[in-house]
Amino acid sequence: MDLFDAINTRTCVRKYQDRSVPKDVLEKLVDAGRRAPSAHNKQPWEFVIITNDETKSNIAALTDYGQFIQNAPACIVVFCEDTKYYLEDGCATVENILLAATGLGLGACWVAGDKKGYAQNVNIMLKVPDRYKLIALIPVGYRLDRQGAKNKRPLEQVIHWEKF
Ligand SMILES: Cc1cc2nc3c(=O)[nH]c(=O)nc-3n(C[C@H](O)[C@H](O)[C@H](O)COP(=O)(O)O)c2cc1C
Repeated sequence: MDLFDAINTRTCVRKYQDRSVPKDVLEKLVDAGRRAPSAHNKQPWEFVIITNDETKSNIAALTDYGQFIQNAPACIVVFCEDTKYYLEDGCATVENILLAATGLGLGACWVAGDKKGYAQNVNIMLKVPDRYKLIALIPVGYRLDRQGAKNKRPLEQVIHWEKF
């Protein structure tokens, strides 16, 4: 898929077909994530891929708005080591994964991690050392529904030339 088609058609997908995502496809997503820009090229990210149903259910139950994680065939959990720019770096890698998923015909969703009260419990559940911050949980699968794109603020409203 063309890059701009992926950018223009990506939406958060929360319903998935009952069909697993092959391991090499999940690796491709993480491979796209690890190519993101990062401050000083620190690449502070680590990715935990969950396919086990019980673990997915337990993780889903921890979240505020991520119950649908339990119905996704896989969930990529993104952590960054607690560096100065961990959050910016982490967001860059998450967006790469979301776009790569779209490009590969998959649906995915960004489920909040950083700043959430459950972040520490996710670390504990997945045996992730304390120095890593939870950035996001990304349930991923073949999309069930064909939702249209969310309303986005129009270009002319957000673009400013030379001054605000
Ligand atoms: C930082 C962040 C946290 C989010 N957390 C959640 C979440 O916990 N649960 C959820 O269903 N969607 C979550 N989303 C997805 C947003 O709801 C979604 O991106 C937004 O509604 C725009 O829709 P779109 O992604 O389809 O364009 C999150 C998105 C971001 C960027």
